[in-house]
Parts: sequence; C-alpha cells; structure tokens
Amino acid sequence: MEKYNTEKSKALYEECCKYLVDGVSSSFHVAPCEEFPIGMVSGKGARMYDVDGNEYIDYIAGFGPTILGYAPKVLNDAVIDQLGRGVQFSAPTELLCALSKKLTEIIPCAEIVSYQSSGTEANMHAWRVARAATGKMKIVKFEGQYHGWADEQKITIGADSTEQLGARDNISRLFTTAGQRQSTTDDIILAPWNDLETLTKIVEEQKDEIAAILMEPYMCDEGPILGKEGYLEGVRKLCDDNNVLLIFDEVITGFRLSLGGAQEYFGVTPDIGIFGKAIAGGIPLSMIAGKKKYMELVHPSGTFNASPISVAAALAVIGELEKPGTYEKIDALGTKLANAFIECGKKNGIKTYANHHNAIVQFQFGIDRAPEDWRDVLDNVDSDMYDKFYNLCRDYGVRITSMRGRIYLSTAHTEEDIDRTIEVFEHVFPMLKED
Ligand SMILES: Cc1ncc(COP(=O)(O)O)c(C=O)c1O
Repeated sequence: MEKYNTEKSKALYEECCKYLVDGVSSSFHVAPCEEFPIGMVSGKGARMYDVDGNEYIDYIAGFGPTILGYAPKVLNDAVIDQLGRGVQFSAPTELLCALSKKLTEIIPCAEIVSYQSSGTEANMHAWRVARAATGKMKIVKFEGQYHGWADEQKITIGADSTEQLGARDNISRLFTTAGQRQSTTDDIILAPWNDLETLTKIVEEQKDEIAAILMEPYMCDEGPILGKEGYLEGVRKLCDDNNVLLIFDEVITGFRLSLGGAQEYFGVTPDIGIFGKAIAGGIPLSMIAGKKKYMELVHPSGTFNASPISVAAALAVIGELEKPGTYEKIDALGTKLANAFIECGKKNGIKTYANHHNAIVQFQFGIDRAPEDWRDVLDNVDSDMYDKFYNLCRDYGVRITSMRGRIYLSTAHTEEDIDRTIEVFEHVFPMLKED
C-alpha cells in the first residue's frame, strides 16, 4: 500500500494561511494533530478527491451533514430545480409547508417547528423559548457538551484532564476563545452528564431558577457516550417533577440515529428538540421542534431562515432516509466496521473499543469497554494513539474525524468502501506501535 503524496495540499494550506485566519474556515477543519489539512477538490458518494489527485473514503461527512454522501443525485436535482425558480423569497412556500408538516410527523416532540441556519442559532432560539415558557433564566448544561460557539454556549467543552474540570458538584467554567464575555454565562449551571444523583441535587436546590436541562441525548461531542440504563428517563422525570423543560440538542444525533432522532431511538421525548447538520444533507438549515404552547412564545428572525434551497434539500434528504431499509443497511455496515476495528486491535495487542448506533460510529484506544462519561474519556482513552491513527488513515486514503473517535456513515457507503477501509486499518494498525 502506497503512502499518499500530499505536497499540493501543504502548499495550498500555506497559501490559505496568508489570507484566512488559521488557513481554514472553521477551527477543526485543520485537526490539532495534523501539520496541514488535505485540500479537497470534489466528492462523489462516500469518496473524496484531493488537490494532489488522491482518493479518500470519507467518514467525516462535513462534520455530520452529508448523510447522503457527496453530490447525491436526488439532492442535486432538488437544489438545481429550486435554483431555477429563485433562492430567497421571504414568504411561505408550499415546500416549506410540506417540510414542516413532514417534520411534525417524524419527530416525536414536534407539535410545531421553527427554523434557523446553524446549530448555534437553533440553540440560542431553543434556550430563549425555554426561558419564555418557564419565566426562569438558568440553563443546566453538561460538561463536555458543545452547543455552538456563542458567548453563552462555548463553556467547559475542551479540557486536557479531569483536574481542569474540578469537582463534579463545582465544575470549572472553562472559556475557549479570547473575547468571550464571561458574564453571559452567569445563567449557565454546569453538571456532569450521566450522573443523575448530582443532577437531582442541583435541580432540587435551584429549581425555582432553572428553565431547562439541555443535553446531547447521546453524548457525541466528547465521546460518543451512551446514557446509562434509565438515565434519560430519570432526567425526563426530574424535569416533569420540577417544572423544568428538557431540551435535546440533536444537531448530531438528528437523522443519524433514526429519522426521528435520538428521541425516537431511545424512546424519551424532550419538550424541545434542536436539529441541524444532516437535516438538509449539507445545505445550511437548522430547526427547533416542540410543544406549540412554548414555541409560539418566541417569534424567530433570520434573513436566511429556511431558504428555499435548504427546504428543497431537506425534503430530498428525508425522502431518501424514509425509504424502507435505509437505517438497517447503514447499521450493518457500522457493525462490520466496528468489529473489524476491534479485531485489528486484538491482532496487534492494542486495547480498543468500538461501537456504533446507526450512522454514528465510535473508535477508541486505551479502553475495551464503553466510556461512562467525559471524565472517564479524559482519564482512560488514549487520545495520542487516536491522533496517530488519524494521521495514518489519512496517509493511506481514509478520512476519519479528529474528534475523539467519532465517525459518520452515510447512505452512500457501500460494502466495497468498508472492505477497502478495513484493508487500510489492517495496514496501519501495526504502525501504531512504532515510535
Ligand atoms: C451537538 C451540537 N450542537 C450544536 C452545534 C453547533 O452547530 P453549528 O456548527 O451548525 O453552529 C454542534 C456543532 O458541531 C453540535 O455538535
């Protein structure tokens, strides 16, 4: 197997750095563990092609959105058709009505919906709805969970060690960018995820001030980490007992775990659900869904909210995902990939853990069991080995995310893609032990 030559990518990145902050348009487009990112030219299905002419099997999926893969005909046709009829009307359309109706049918918590363009905005909107609905201001947010990059949102998401996080009942407020107004986070209460006891204590003490408990129902950003048996149900009950709303941030899990998101997959319905990324297959669109009596308290604004292009794209995506057998096919590929990763670990004497839930797959080194929470990941997962794996996969044509082992499948992945990926894994695993 030949290592890829990526000289043109390197030169492109150097050129970009002259004109563009960090040389990329979003922080993780260059992985912290790589010298330069691969410059891309095009994608088709599950494959991508770089500026040096190399082909990659892609599992980054644009950080989640491209659930139908790259340049899918059904999505392109819908977008091209809409382009011919206009891109921005600032008025209701029949397609907008059809999409909204469809979303209320497939998402359990959706009595009614409302749109924005990014997950960050949708979170801002959902938090405001919760505050309007309860007349209370505080939001419980979990350590390690990312909900967007606004001042109030980007807190205690990156840490190098458990020590930095402080005690479970007195979590440190960690800010990640210069210029963040710390006062905006006065109404955020930090809690450890997957710890119902600590959460119950927090809610019982401050229930008169807490508007909502906000969570990724499958903690993807620093994991992925599954809720313990009964955890989601326990949080649901805690909210009901204390006049606190439950918000699921399904920006990652939406359309990936199932058509109705994590709330359908796990059978626990929040008061408000937040969706983005995969909803329109890579065209910007986000959405919040919930009870009419809450949602109608806040009237959303936004020039680009539900642009006709995004709406046409979302209808095409949902039309594909709801075809019978879609998730079963993805699930079978995920099982094969996860098993192969564990097998490679065994063959090479490297401790590995892998799991998958439909279109979200997880690879970890240093542990051979599911991680329990973010602290467990920080203490026990071998992130240095993952970084090495990331770079080796990249060198031989497999794109995985640099984000703690979370990768994405799409409807475009085939058995052949998975087999080729496994060949690359078998090739690079022995190199993980080399210095
Ligand atoms: C769970 C979650 N919520 C919100 C966001 C923010 O979404 P966006 O990047 O579209 O603003 C992200 C982005 O990665 C996310 O993973």
